[in-house]
Amino acid sequence: MAATNLPNVSSRFYVTTPIYYVNDAPHIGHAYTTVTADALARWHRLHGEEVWFLTGTDEHGLKVAQAAEKHGVSPQDWADTTVERFKDTWKLLDIANDDFIRTTEPRHYRAVEKLLQACYEAGDIELGVYEGLYCVACEAYYTEAELVEGNCPIHDRPVDTVTEENYFFKLSRFEQRLLDWYEAHPDVITPETRRNEVLGFIRQGLQDFSISRTSLQWGVPLPWDPSHVTYVWFDALTNYITGVGFPDDKAPLWRFWPADVHLIGKDIIRFHCVYWPAMLLSAGIEPPVNWHVHGWLLVGGEKMSKTRLNQIAPADLVETFGVDGYRYHFLRDPSFGPDSDFSYEGMVVRYNTDLANNLGNLLSRVATVVAKKCGGTGPAPSPDSPLAAVAATAFATATRAWQDVQPNLALEATWRIVRETNAHLEANEPWKAEPGPALDAVMGDALEALRIVSVLAFPAIPTTAQAIWERIGLPGSVVEQRLPDAAAWGGYPGGLPVEKGAALFPRVTE
Ligand code: ME8
Ligand code: MG
Repeated sequence: MAATNLPNVSSRFYVTTPIYYVNDAPHIGHAYTTVTADALARWHRLHGEEVWFLTGTDEHGLKVAQAAEKHGVSPQDWADTTVERFKDTWKLLDIANDDFIRTTEPRHYRAVEKLLQACYEAGDIELGVYEGLYCVACEAYYTEAELVEGNCPIHDRPVDTVTEENYFFKLSRFEQRLLDWYEAHPDVITPETRRNEVLGFIRQGLQDFSISRTSLQWGVPLPWDPSHVTYVWFDALTNYITGVGFPDDKAPLWRFWPADVHLIGKDIIRFHCVYWPAMLLSAGIEPPVNWHVHGWLLVGGEKMSKTRLNQIAPADLVETFGVDGYRYHFLRDPSFGPDSDFSYEGMVVRYNTDLANNLGNLLSRVATVVAKKCGGTGPAPSPDSPLAAVAATAFATATRAWQDVQPNLALEATWRIVRETNAHLEANEPWKAEPGPALDAVMGDALEALRIVSVLAFPAIPTTAQAIWERIGLPGSVVEQRLPDAAAWGGYPGGLPVEKGAALFPRVTE
């Protein structure tokens, strides 16, 4: 029997981003994942689902310790300072995460210790000696064969030869269990190319990986041997269960586990899709429902990096395009899967076309005609408007697309309503028509289309969606609307005051 104090919801949705290293300043690549997670969370909340959206920061490990040392401060001080850059950026971008986890928090130490202990007691952690090639930027070992011209294949920089007595997680024992698990859960990795990549990697044979360090103090001490600290990736992956109350399975939030979607970049697929499920299986915890893997945002064809000095900070773009203009671009433009090149010129064109012209002008011309010919009061839509079918199809397509984590397709579908409504106005030319029932029907239809668009576009452009809602006179807020009802044709009641207001999206000149 379900506990009676739980809210009555259709389902639960737990979405996560990677936890970002605090040694970097947040750039548009980090924001890409986080904005997508936020939009997804908002879409699911609109369905009345109970949503938990977790993001945070990865604060242990050699990489952070070295950055702190370089700046002459303790790692904790360094993390305390730099974590604010992430918090500020997410606030700027209107990210409505339910929680923010830092791996230096006591709750996380408890979770890491418990997970380690569970794997240790299952016999999957053993002491051994390790010699390997280590990339500090990745916080990962590589084999000779994986290097590219002797350098890390991701960071293109030299690796270090490291010899250490470490505890190892016996990943080699999990080959078959993982393959069986993946076979039983065919949809857990999307897109499918990434699933094939993971299966290929597992089939090549898995090597045990070291989960502790003695060369470093900055981390969670192993509960059974505190002379070692926990490897930063074992520590970091655990955040996803810390965030929902692990190790307390009576914690109210534990009902959100397993996570519905871990959003990750392709750079960290091996940790998430091989190590993480093996760690969970070892501890007897159910692995996540889905990993959604996206490609890199490139700048000038290259991955952004500190050393290449090609990082773009979200704030720089927000200055020009506004928060919603920013969010819209990164949700609408890249296809969530492959790599894509960021183009400022492309961003200007997309913004001016979709936001300033199509959506902004739609509201402004509707409000102008309603003011001139309907006495400023919005009429009700007609039940048999041709736009009703357009809206229904767009909603169905958008629903499917959000389900598949394809925000660009969801927004493309939503903007079809905007374009068709503009076309409907141009065909009927209400600005030339006499006041009367025919004109009222056209204007009512356009207002109804704007109402539906403000709901469907809300996950991408929450502030503007609310502004449209208010300007067409609707009471309350978009966030309180519930799909699918709110997308059904005929919700605009008519008789409401319509206000033009300032341009929603002022044009940007290059
Ligand atoms: O890997 N394009 O943290 P990280 C698209 N702490 N996405 C990008 C990107 C780009 N150019 N650059 C970064 C770590 N990202 C670990 C994660 S999780 C348990 C621990 C995004 O700060 C993308 O989501 O290097 C990528 O996976 C993540 O930032 C890596 O962030
Ligand atoms: Mg990285």
